[in-house]
Amino acid sequence: MTDEKSSSGAASEADGSSAPAAVSPKATVARVPAAKPAQATSQGAEITRRGLFSWAAVGWVGFTAAIGGCMTAFGRFMFPNVLFEPPTSFKVGNTEDFPPGVVDERFKEANGVWIVNNEGRLTALIAICTHLGCPPAWLEAQNKFKCPCHGSGYYKNGINFEGPTPRPLERAKISIDPDDGQILVDKSQKYLWEQGQWDDPSSFIEVS
Ligand code: FES
Repeated sequence: MTDEKSSSGAASEADGSSAPAAVSPKATVARVPAAKPAQATSQGAEITRRGLFSWAAVGWVGFTAAIGGCMTAFGRFMFPNVLFEPPTSFKVGNTEDFPPGVVDERFKEANGVWIVNNEGRLTALIAICTHLGCPPAWLEAQNKFKCPCHGSGYYKNGINFEGPTPRPLERAKISIDPDDGQILVDKSQKYLWEQGQWDDPSSFIEVS
């Protein structure tokens, strides 16, 4: 009996007819590898999509930056930085507006000149120190122009007398407009004392 069972079992194992032997090693091997390619394909597709989105994001950022740069350039083209400077030629009024001895400061801030009536001549003194270009101040009590930067001083007629400046203030062209009789100052034309240009009749107006 025992021999039959053992021989029967041995026979079953031998011919592979028992239950555990129903799943063959070949079938297991065949199923597992079949799932791996599908998973790999899915992961590959996921990676590809991520890469696509990354490149799309980079492209979008680059596109946005390029558009922004173009808009900025266009804006600069349409609205350029313009330096608004006062006109070099302007009218200051009539000769009667400047009594003898006056240093008129009304045009210093906007136009950079003093209109001075001194010793029978009306002149337009340019309000720039001839040392290093600071704007001097007219000191009525001391009857002089004084530069705050390094202390240069000038008489009412513009001649320097103290401080480091090597030369007098400069004059602008001054004349009477024949159309309306007003005083016309033109800063584009200057007259320098050290070059003998203060004798030029365009550098002053004779007044009584
Ligand atoms: S800039 Fe006027 S004294 Fe130097």
